[in-house]
Amino acid sequence: MIMGQSLSKIEKVYDTVAKEYAETFFYEHEKKPKDQDILCRFSQEIGNRRPVWDFGCGPGHTASYLTKLGLQTSGLDLSEKILEQARAIHPAMHFRRGNILELEFEDNLIAGIVSFYSIVHFTEDQVKLAFREAFRVLQPGGIFLFTFHIGENTIHLDQFLNKEIDVDFMFFTNDFIWKSLKDSGFAKIEMIAREPYPEVEYQSRRSYVFAIKPVARKSP
Ligand SMILES: C[S@@+](CC[C@H](N)C(=O)[O-])C[C@H]1O[C@@H](n2cnc3c(N)ncnc32)[C@H](O)[C@@H]1O
Repeated sequence: MIMGQSLSKIEKVYDTVAKEYAETFFYEHEKKPKDQDILCRFSQEIGNRRPVWDFGCGPGHTASYLTKLGLQTSGLDLSEKILEQARAIHPAMHFRRGNILELEFEDNLIAGIVSFYSIVHFTEDQVKLAFREAFRVLQPGGIFLFTFHIGENTIHLDQFLNKEIDVDFMFFTNDFIWKSLKDSGFAKIEMIAREPYPEVEYQSRRSYVFAIKPVARKSP
């Protein structure tokens, strides 16, 4: 069994801050030009393939951004309260409860997965499990795009968005992420680092990662 922060603890955090999180992050991508470039690229590379899911979608701003680009995207999250926010803000979109570490999707189903900062509460073993699950559910040739905070530290927060919480935020090294993706079977891994935008977000270096599930070669 893989140990980490319990899922109920993480769920409780996002249930507690759901409304404030939705209000704070509603215009997230409008303030971050690199997010826009990356999401535009993801949308172009997915093209006509479907379905596309946002794992750890929060209030649905990334799924909504992609849908506005023409890439209809559904959202999955652990927190029922944050999903209530997502459904209220984006009534035409599809959101459902689920666990990134134990996905209720069949193998080879999904064309594209986007997952912004959804691994931030995971231990290294949980990150590896999340990557194996993403790999399992992606179609051959499917694209996994996610973001993380670069570093080696863990930050404990007991206040977030003016609410009392109790949770750890994990940073990861590029080497760890790269090796874990390779070990899960991903190929064509591309990591794009950027400095934080001043006064817009927490001041940490971040990475956008594109990883492809290889198409199996036919035997001769
Ligand atoms: C830091 S927030 C990021 C939300 C959104 N992607 C964004 O960029 O603002 C992490 C999100 O991942 C969700 N999450 C954490 N662990 C999860 C899990 N095991 N399964 C599904 N969602 C999870 C949380 O409920 C929360 O909405």
